[in-house]
Amino acid sequence: MGMMGGAGAGGGGAFAAARGGAAASGLPFAGIPPELQAKVDDLLATEPDTETPEVPFSHSDYDRRRLRLRTLLAPHWLALVGALGLVAVETVAMQAGPALTQIGIDDGIGFGGAEGDKRVLVVVSAIYLLSIVVNIGAGRARVAWSGRVGERLMYSLRVRVFSHLQRLDVGFFTEEKAGRLMSRMTSDIESLTQLFHEGLIQMVVQGLTLIVVVTFLFTYDVRLAVITLLIIVPFMLVMTLWFRSASDRGYAAVRDRIADVLAHLQESLSGVRIVTAHNRQRQNIAEHRNIAGTYREANDYTAKVGAVYGGGTEVVGIAGQAMILLIGGRMVLDGDLDPGELTAFILYLSAFFAPIQQLVNLYNTYQKGQAAMDKLADLLESEPATAEQRNAVVLPPIQGEIRFDDVEFAYVPGSPVLTDVDLTIRQGEIFALVGPTGAGKSTIASLVTRFYDPTRGSVSMDGHDLRDVTLESLRGQLGIVPQEPFLFGGSIRDNIAFARPAATDDEVLEACRAVGIEDLVERLPQGIHTPCHERGVSLSSGERQLLALARAFLARPRVLVLDEATSNLDLRSESKIERALDTLLEGRTAIIIAHRLSTAMRADRIAVVDRGRIVELGSHDELVAQGGQYAEMYATWERHTSGEHAGEHQPTSA
Ligand SMILES: Nc1ncnc2c1ncn2[C@@H]1O[C@H](COP(=O)(O)OP(=O)(O)OP(=O)(O)O)[C@@H](O)[C@H]1O
Ligand SMILES: [Mg+2]
Repeated sequence: MGMMGGAGAGGGGAFAAARGGAAASGLPFAGIPPELQAKVDDLLATEPDTETPEVPFSHSDYDRRRLRLRTLLAPHWLALVGALGLVAVETVAMQAGPALTQIGIDDGIGFGGAEGDKRVLVVVSAIYLLSIVVNIGAGRARVAWSGRVGERLMYSLRVRVFSHLQRLDVGFFTEEKAGRLMSRMTSDIESLTQLFHEGLIQMVVQGLTLIVVVTFLFTYDVRLAVITLLIIVPFMLVMTLWFRSASDRGYAAVRDRIADVLAHLQESLSGVRIVTAHNRQRQNIAEHRNIAGTYREANDYTAKVGAVYGGGTEVVGIAGQAMILLIGGRMVLDGDLDPGELTAFILYLSAFFAPIQQLVNLYNTYQKGQAAMDKLADLLESEPATAEQRNAVVLPPIQGEIRFDDVEFAYVPGSPVLTDVDLTIRQGEIFALVGPTGAGKSTIASLVTRFYDPTRGSVSMDGHDLRDVTLESLRGQLGIVPQEPFLFGGSIRDNIAFARPAATDDEVLEACRAVGIEDLVERLPQGIHTPCHERGVSLSSGERQLLALARAFLARPRVLVLDEATSNLDLRSESKIERALDTLLEGRTAIIIAHRLSTAMRADRIAVVDRGRIVELGSHDELVAQGGQYAEMYATWERHTSGEHAGEHQPTSA
C-alpha cells in the first residue's frame, strides 16, 4: 500500500468506499495502485452500476382506469395541501402592501385636521418589509415543493406510458407512426409538466389573489367597488370569451403541427441513407420547410391572439383606474372617502387585472395539459390486439407440435393474406416454408409467435390455443430470427445475451463460436464488450444476421423460427450455420423460411406458400416427384447452379 498514487485515488476511492473495504478492515484507504487502476476501470465499465430493479410488468394485470387529473393528483394530496398553505401565506403577504399604505397615509401622515403619528409610519413600514420577506420566502418554498411533486408525477407517468408501449402489439407499431408516439412522449409530456409544475398551483395563487383583492375593494368602499365591477366586468367577459375560443382553436392546431414536425423528422433520420443515395435532400428540406412553416403559423396565431387579449385588458384596466380616480377623487373632496383609502383602492384595482390576465393565460396551460392528458389517456387505453386473457394459463415446457386449424388472417379487414391454412408441424421437425415474395411466409411465422392473432381459425402449440396461454410463457420458449435483425445500443455481449442477460461470458463466446463470429469478435478491440452502434450500423448485414443467430443460439428456445435468417450470408458461413443449427435444433421444432433452395432442401418437410395458401406439402423428394410448383423451382435452381463452378455460387432467389 506504500505506492499509493494520486492518480488512482480519485476514481478508486469511490469504488472502495462503495464496497466499504478499507473502512471495514480499520486501515486508512491508500488508493488503488496506478498499475491496477486500468483493470479496476475495466471491471467497473463492464459491471452494471446498479442492480437491475425489480420491475413490475404484466401483460394482463395493470391499471386500466382512465388517466385523469384527479386520480393522478390524489396520491399526493398531502403535499398539495402543504403547497396550498404556502400559497395562502404568500398571497396574503403579497396583498398586505396597499392596506399598509392606507394606514401609513391616513394614520401615519395624517391629513386635513388630523394629527399624523410618526411611530405608526415606522411600524407600518417595518411590517411592509416583513410582509415582503414572508412573501418571497413562502413563494420559494412553494415553488420548490410543487416542483418536486410535479417531477414525481411526471416520472411515474413517463414510466407508465413506456410500460404500456412495451405491452402493445406489433401491429400497433406498424400503424402508429413512431414520430407521433415520440410527440406523446415529448411535447405532450412537456405540456403536462408545465401544468403540474407551475400551472395548477399558479391557478390557485391567482384565484386566491383575485378573491383577496375583491374583498379589499369591497371593504374600502362598496360603492366604488360596485361601479368598478359594473364597468369593467362586461368588457373583460366579452374579451375573455373571444380569447378562449380563439386560443382553443390555436392550440389544437399547434399540437397537431408539432406532431407532424416530429413525425417528419423521425422518418428523415431513419431513412437518411436512402435520402442521401437518391439525392432527396432538397425535396426533404422543402417538405420540412412546409411542415415547420405550418407549425410556425399556428404558433404565430396563438401569439397574436394572446397579444390582442393582453393589450385589450391593459387598456380596460388603465381606463378603469382613470375613471375611479375621477369618481373617487370627487368622493374625497366631498369628504366621503379618505385619501389613503382612495390610494389603496387604486392600488388594489391595478392588482385586480394581473390575476385575471394570468388566469386566462393559465387557462391555456390548462387546456394544453388537458389535451395532452386526453391523448396520453387514449394511448394508455389502447388495448393490445393480442391481449393476454385474464385466465391465461402458463404454457408448460413446449414439446413442439404446432397446428394451424383452418386459419385465415388479414392485416387489413376484408383483404386476407392467408386463407384456409391447415397445417401440422410435428414435434422436433424441421419445417421449411418456400414460395414467391409476398406469399405470406413471414405472416405464418408471425402467427406462431403470436405477433398477430388469426382472424379465423386457431393456431395452437401442443394442443394449447395460443390465445389461451400467457404471452411470457409462450415467447420465453420461442426464438425468432427475423428478416431484418435489429441491434440495440450496447455491447455485442448485451446484444447476444439479450434474451438471457444472466448468461456468462463463456456462454456468449460459445454462441459466437457456434455461428462462426469468433474471428470477428477477436479482431475487435474489446472483444464481446465492444459497443455496437445504434441499429448496428457498424456491422455488415451478414454480421448482423450472425449476431441475431448467436442470440437465438444462446436462448436455446424450444421452437425456433428463422425468417430468411441466412439470406445475407456467403455460402461458407451458411453451411457453417447449418451445421451449428443441426446441433442447436436437435429434438426441437424449427420453421425455416428460405428463398435458397439449398437451405430448404435440408428440411424434413417443405410447404410451398402461394398467395396466402399452402399449395404443396411434403419432403423434398416427394415434392420433386410430384412435379408441381416446387419441382419447377427446383429445376430452375438446378439449371442455374450446374452452369457454374460447383458450390461456388448459387442464385439467391428461386
Ligand atoms: N403490416 C402489414 N400490413 C398490411 N399488409 C401487410 C403487412 N405485412 C405484410 N403485409 C402483406 O401481406 C402479404 C404477405 O406478406 P409476408 O411478409 O408474409 O410475405 P413473405 O412471403 O414473407 O414475403 P418475402 O418473401 O418477401 O419475405 C404481402 O402482400 C404484404 O404486402
Ligand atoms: Mg418475409
